[in-house]
Amino acid sequence: MSDNGNIESILHEDRIFPPPEKFNDRIGGAYINSMEKYDEMYARSMEDPDGFWGEVADQLDWFERWDTVSSGAFPDAKWFEGGKTNVCHNCIDRQINMGHGDDTAIIWEGEPTIGSGGSGEVRTLTYHDLHVEVCKFANALKSQGVKKGDVVTIYMGMVPELAIATLACARIGAPHSVIFGGFSSQAIADRVEDAKSKVVVTCDGSWRRGKVVPLKYNVDAATELTDLIEKVIVVKRCENEIAWNDERDIWWHEVCENQEDECPCESMDAEDMLFLLYTSGSTGKPKGIIHTTGGYMVYTYLTSKWVFNLRPDTDQVYWCTADIGWITGHSYIIYGVLPNRVPTLMYEGAPNFPEPDRFWNIVERHKVTQFYTAPTAIRAFMKWGDEHPKKHDLSSLNLLGTVGEPINPEAWMWYREIIGGSNCPIVDTWWQTETGGQMLTPLPGATPTTPGSCTRPFFGVDAAIVQEDGTEVDTNSGGLLVVRKPWPGILRGIFGDRDRFVDTYFGRIDGMYLAGDSARVDENGNFWIMGRIDDVINVSGHRLGTMEVESSLVSHESVVEAAVVGVPHEIKGTGIAAFCTLAGGFEPSEELKQTLRKHVANEIGAIAKPDMLKFTDALPKTRSGKIMRRLLRDVAAGTDSKQDITTLEDFTVIAKLRAED
Ligand code: WT7
Repeated sequence: MSDNGNIESILHEDRIFPPPEKFNDRIGGAYINSMEKYDEMYARSMEDPDGFWGEVADQLDWFERWDTVSSGAFPDAKWFEGGKTNVCHNCIDRQINMGHGDDTAIIWEGEPTIGSGGSGEVRTLTYHDLHVEVCKFANALKSQGVKKGDVVTIYMGMVPELAIATLACARIGAPHSVIFGGFSSQAIADRVEDAKSKVVVTCDGSWRRGKVVPLKYNVDAATELTDLIEKVIVVKRCENEIAWNDERDIWWHEVCENQEDECPCESMDAEDMLFLLYTSGSTGKPKGIIHTTGGYMVYTYLTSKWVFNLRPDTDQVYWCTADIGWITGHSYIIYGVLPNRVPTLMYEGAPNFPEPDRFWNIVERHKVTQFYTAPTAIRAFMKWGDEHPKKHDLSSLNLLGTVGEPINPEAWMWYREIIGGSNCPIVDTWWQTETGGQMLTPLPGATPTTPGSCTRPFFGVDAAIVQEDGTEVDTNSGGLLVVRKPWPGILRGIFGDRDRFVDTYFGRIDGMYLAGDSARVDENGNFWIMGRIDDVINVSGHRLGTMEVESSLVSHESVVEAAVVGVPHEIKGTGIAAFCTLAGGFEPSEELKQTLRKHVANEIGAIAKPDMLKFTDALPKTRSGKIMRRLLRDVAAGTDSKQDITTLEDFTVIAKLRAED
């Protein structure tokens, strides 16, 4: 049921840490400062969701007020219907209108050039600066024929223009589809086709550990795979050699040069699409998750504010280390943070380049106060050694966060002690691309935390653990994690696939949102995520469908059949194990293994490269022909959980697989 190897240690975890005193002192108090307050407010958010969320929405600007706060039920729940607003307005213009145009909006730290002593290029954008840049690019998009409702594809490195591009799209009502810069040209082409997107924004290249990631080259290759791409707008970042098509390609700086620095915000219906973001599911085809304007804006604004305790007019500098190519970057670098008027730090490079202390160097120099990262990064830091964080003054930190996968208690304790000086609350936030924002999370000034648990539901989130028939399981029993009431940030659909949307999330348990994770609730009311229930694995906090990897393996001429499962991995949490049967004429070899690994990286992206690849004459199957993945998981992990194999068709298959190596 689970790809997560930590369940044993989680079961025995009983350390409890109350919110540290220092936390409350340093920032002049937490918004939610006791469990009594949490309980009371949570009860209200359940009894009177419209009252609760209406008050939150009132903290932001609307061009026209909504008629109803919430309406409809799953799968067609709507929020703030009749309301008109613009997310970019609330991120930028609202701050300027309130007299804060000169406050810092974004601090950008580039990858260091080698030999610069670890300090990268730094660019700071105030709300005024951001306004100018966003308006110019919004006008540039319009000049290229982009209209409200047109999907703009964005495939960039972590440069300020990436944030500018997303905000410019939001400003003119053109939904963006950001594709992580690690994905392949095939992945770009697939997403462009699915979203019917004609304009792609990219960079010549992106810096990664002193090397150039050839983004423009990948887009060029994607144009060979689809005819849809009409315009490619290119940011000059690395000045690497690139091919140029005069008809199609335009430099960002040239197209922006003569644009007006004012561009009115499009008045958007609360339920108009804000963006599409592709994520993996249990079939081979990634799904385009739809988020809309009003509910997503309100939900990410409030979760950012209360989970990270964001306070304007203080010395706070907030840093989320995610890439904007993932939902974490959308919600917690840009959309939830800017309306809270706390500087959001964006970093271009890798955590260990030029040295393994790169992150701590940045924390010290920018006096970062809130730091949000993934367990896989924390495990890598642990491995690289305590001396790297210890070289730096990390005393500016007052809150630590994690997201993306279950965090093992060892990593949690290390994070708390070595990075947080045992003085910072850790918010372990559970959520998904589909949920728009954080769903299960401690509140830093209120919730006692326990290593490995994401603790409690956020306000308005009616989370429960149920069995297949929808009834709740007992304390500490594993079951399906569901949400029983709509919340403002919920996805509104899968682009172009209504049936898949309804089936995936609402088809299995009547009237509830099925998250796709298994979990349990302990005797203190704390939630513990156990793992995925579908054929999705979580590699370094990134979701991957095993079917996607299988499809790419069998697309190679040498592979007839492939099965992919997760295998416990020290740093990644879960690694990828692939079992392949070969076509006639192909022999197993180390070289073929490497060829196939490379093939997957070319087809999907480097994150999908199998960590372990085995050739086999046959895969273990039931008599009805289903591949028995649980057996393969055992083989990959080198364990034997004494599973029931009475339905296994050919008993020798497993013995052979185990005997190899
Ligand atoms: C899946 C969602 C949401 C941003 C990053 C991932 C796993 C996420 C946690 C956590 C245990 C977690 C779940 C979830 N997950 N956060 N704090 N503890 N598991 O977004 O790619 O949509 O993946 O990531 O399995 O379903 P995503």
